[in-house]
Amino acid sequence: MQRLGLYIHIPFCKRKCNYCDFYSCTKLDNIKSYIDALLKQIVIDAPLYRDYEFDTIFIGGGTPSLLEPNDFERLTDAIKNNLNLTQGLEFSLEANPGTLTREKLLAYEKGGVNRLSMGLQSTFDNELKTLGRIHTYDEFVKNFNLARECGFDNISIDVMYSLPNQKTNDLLTTLERVSSLNPEHISSYCLKIEEKTPFGKIKDKLMLPNEDEEYEMYISMCDYLNKKGYLQYEISNFARAGYESKHNLKYWQSEEYIGIGPSAHSFFGGERYYYQDNLTDYISTILKGNSPEKIFEKELEIEHSVAHISKEDEYVMLKMRLSSGINTEEFKTRFGKEFLNSYPAVEKYIKSGHIVLLNNSYKFTPQGFFVSNYILTDILRFEN
Ligand SMILES: C[S@@+](CC[C@H](N)C(=O)[O-])C[C@H]1O[C@@H](n2cnc3c(N)ncnc32)[C@H](O)[C@@H]1O
Ligand code: SF4
Repeated sequence: MQRLGLYIHIPFCKRKCNYCDFYSCTKLDNIKSYIDALLKQIVIDAPLYRDYEFDTIFIGGGTPSLLEPNDFERLTDAIKNNLNLTQGLEFSLEANPGTLTREKLLAYEKGGVNRLSMGLQSTFDNELKTLGRIHTYDEFVKNFNLARECGFDNISIDVMYSLPNQKTNDLLTTLERVSSLNPEHISSYCLKIEEKTPFGKIKDKLMLPNEDEEYEMYISMCDYLNKKGYLQYEISNFARAGYESKHNLKYWQSEEYIGIGPSAHSFFGGERYYYQDNLTDYISTILKGNSPEKIFEKELEIEHSVAHISKEDEYVMLKMRLSSGINTEEFKTRFGKEFLNSYPAVEKYIKSGHIVLLNNSYKFTPQGFFVSNYILTDILRFEN
């Protein structure tokens, strides 16, 4: 049977963080009817996936840990009763500090969750406050320890860097505190200022690190985490050996997955599509017995440049996010041509030290990862 990943979006948050443009609502009174709609969509769509087996599940958000035990149980029962699941599948759930209890953690574990992704962002309370987070560092540590006590032995921690007024030493202190908790996985994202967020509106007043400082942070972070035994396997992701996120690897390896919920993206049957980010429409459409409209993606955007996606460009763009890069033999088998003939601009980035050819694979160096969007725009000859 062919393998698939399953993503379920939980579009609710207690409060919107100042930087975040992921789709979520702070009005929490329709969580139950949203779960009703998800159950119905799983049942309606199940026949499409009869010949497939799901080997990863990722419940993300928003804030999935707002789900109470009985709603979570209803959701996992529907998944188990309607879809083929691989034994020993990876089942991740995003959990926000400030929303977790022992009762919830035990219910998630009972429902099959075997990987938690916890959003910390920073270990400094003043930074957490600036970001608009609902928790302190101390609350995070309590929740992390509680998750360990409840038996979670695969935990990822999210942090962000290049924060307002942040210095490299502040980031290194955060990483030192995070690695001393010994999580299995760490994601560290560069703060992106999204136009429509509160940060986007006061961007010029934010006292953000400049590009040189951001570069210093990125290189120091990669260096520090690698020394601590967290191997970088993607631009922003680091893991103990064997603990890479199998679900997220599917995105970068051009493998197929289904996303359900408003704003969730899918790659299925060779096509990429997503659902509109409108919770009330999503619920009412499904509860009336209809499937939500699929919006097909035809263009790809990086750094404000837009391109029609060829399968080849898409493969290069996604694969180059991984430290393993692009294997020349694999590329030739897949597309019937030499990688360098298709992407000759790669050579100048080898000369400049941004890309290396190692064991038949072209990969970004840490310096290359830092400017990877710029380089990919050039290599793929995107048009403005
Ligand atoms: C989709 S969010 C959901 C996680 C969860 N709700 C939380 O906040 O802990 C996943 C991660 O994306 C990162 N993120 C969200 N917005 C970001 C932004 N504007 N720039 C950089 N990273 C961002 C954060 O690290 C966050 O933990
Ligand atoms: S970062 Fe997480 S908690 Fe904050 S608004 Fe976004 S999804 Fe919600």
